Amino acid sequence: WNIKNNETYNNQAIDEAAELIKQGQAVAFPTETVYGLGADATNEAAVAKIFKAKGRPQDNPLIAHVATVDQLRRLVDNLPVYTEKLIKAFSPGPITYVLPSNGACAQNVTAGLSTIGVRIPDHPVAQALLKKADVPVAAPSANLSGKPSPTMGNHVWDDLNGKISGLLDGGPTGVGLESTVIDCTQDIPIILRPGGITKEQLEAVVHPVMMDPGLANTKEKPKSPGMKYKHYSPEVPLWLVEGTHASIQAIVDQEKFNGNRVGVLASQQTAKQINAEEIISLGENINEIAIHLYEGLRRFKQGDVDIIICEVFTEAGIGQAVMNRLRKAASEYIVK
Ligand code: TXA
Ligand code: MG
Repeated sequence: WNIKNNETYNNQAIDEAAELIKQGQAVAFPTETVYGLGADATNEAAVAKIFKAKGRPQDNPLIAHVATVDQLRRLVDNLPVYTEKLIKAFSPGPITYVLPSNGACAQNVTAGLSTIGVRIPDHPVAQALLKKADVPVAAPSANLSGKPSPTMGNHVWDDLNGKISGLLDGGPTGVGLESTVIDCTQDIPIILRPGGITKEQLEAVVHPVMMDPGLANTKEKPKSPGMKYKHYSPEVPLWLVEGTHASIQAIVDQEKFNGNRVGVLASQQTAKQINAEEIISLGENINEIAIHLYEGLRRFKQGDVDIIICEVFTEAGIGQAVMNRLRKAASEYIVK
């Protein structure tokens, strides 16, 4: 269903989608981060459809989505005091709390773990769908496993057409990157995946907040199962280049000389100064770059370019999440 009509949404489509979820089907829907592929989290067979459609590894747990804090409480054993503060400050919003599961969701949602990731999305369509369905909805990003997450309805269509029961197309998502996943089972909260809520924002409410050492360190395994996979991959090799626009230009020219067609992903400022076959400007600042990153990665198709060269961006604010995704997507990291 194409549900966005200027600023209003088609409620009938949302009702139909909620009905399909109740019946045990998998349906894609927009959230403020990326599109999710949802199914009734209490129905094991329904959840299995998500894994199948995405080709997702069985050991990678899903996030349970709920509309309200009350519904969140019904899925978990107990909330540490600091979690209450975080929920009050950031939910609904782009943050997922990993908490002790009380077993209310099907086993395959948590991939057998004793913890469960729960999120209250802040998007009118997601909220309406969750309220109507009136069950917790397990939903990973609605892409084929390994591909960049979908930030537009057509990304979901390209990946999952024919494999799912429906798609609520509500236009482009807001943040452009996935939620921050935060482990709330320890004395100090630990960021397992940087995302829509930044470390700076979290620390303004609860201090300190740790980063999972496994995110930076290749020797230590990430605590979140999903973070160990290669991810967000475009169709062609992606090289991350740290340096000035002149150093990016030098690599573009060298590769052109080698007979390669080069596509460039860069900030608007850098894009203006680069000369290449195809250049995609991701935006003027890091928030805009986050919004457009996955669309940019998807736009460069096999056959159009041989290599994507992408600028290294700031790690400030949502830049931490942007660079986390780019490092996972990249095959080379070049320092000039
Ligand atoms: O913004 C988002 O979070 C989107 C939208 C649809 O809500 N969802 C999303 O889901 O990105 P997914 O499945 O693509 O990523 C969920 C991440 C994975 O890295 C997974 O391993 C981790 O969260 N995760 C889920 N439950 C966990 C748990 N109990 N313990 C540790 N990590 C968990
Ligand atoms: Mg995903």
